Amino acid sequence: MKTVFINCSPKKRFCASAYFLFLQSLFVGGKKVNEKLRTPADHSRILEQLKDAKAVVFCLPLYVDGVPSHVLRFMEEMEVYCLENHMELSVYCVANNGFIEGKQNEPLMQVFEHFCAHAGLVWGGGVGIGGGVMLNVTRILFVVDIALLALNTVLSVVNTGMFFNKEAWISFAENAALLLYFNLGVLFYLAGMGRAIGKGTYFGKKYTRILIPSFVFILFADIFFITASVLEGGIFRGWLKKKELEKA
Ligand SMILES: Cc1cc2nc3c(=O)[nH]c(=O)nc-3n(C[C@H](O)[C@H](O)[C@H](O)COP(=O)(O)O)c2cc1C
Repeated sequence: MKTVFINCSPKKRFCASAYFLFLQSLFVGGKKVNEKLRTPADHSRILEQLKDAKAVVFCLPLYVDGVPSHVLRFMEEMEVYCLENHMELSVYCVANNGFIEGKQNEPLMQVFEHFCAHAGLVWGGGVGIGGGVMLNVTRILFVVDIALLALNTVLSVVNTGMFFNKEAWISFAENAALLLYFNLGVLFYLAGMGRAIGKGTYFGKKYTRILIPSFVFILFADIFFITASVLEGGIFRGWLKKKELEKA
């Protein structure tokens, strides 16, 4: 069975969709193909991959409570292609948004549901994830956690000659457990949807979020956006940087 995973984020690097795509693919067996949808130049290549696939998983961000426009353009082309080729394909969706409630992805899910009905495809369901940006950051924090463990181990060898540093391992395990906890809702539903993809069954629409209290989320989000504003958006490789207007 072949499953095509489409990362639909327009970002070139470090998008949340890539993180959730990776997690979802862990729970799906068989042949897996990863695709990236950013521009119309990607359309024909992806459509070709869909031809002999059993399922397709769209991993995408929520934009203005809906589907990003470059994804809509692809769906329009895909609808015609699927009807012309009488394709039997199950469509699943992993959507993530910046605000904390995953339920905000409901209108986006409805767009996919209607798309499937129009294109003669099987709607398999989806997972809507709130706090996508913050969850994406947990993977950096995990790498930092590993780096700290390595550093503490080296320091322990240099200072005491002992390779095993108990405190360093306890601290690593505590941090890793916390990061895992933040992701538990996502992992639970992606595991369930992975099983549905494997069996070709309907999963339904499920919504989850980063597992932290809303007031903590708001506090960190406020700090992030105030810092970004003070630095005029010039952080994180210019994601929020002011763009120069193209000369006409
Ligand atoms: C143009 C634009 C519109 C957005 N609209 C919403 C929105 O309506 N609701 C929301 O919660 N997040 C919104 N976001 C935030 C994204 O959904 C969020 O950053 C997401 O994690 C990006 O996923 P990606 O890294 O895979 O591209 C918007 C972001 C952009 C750039």
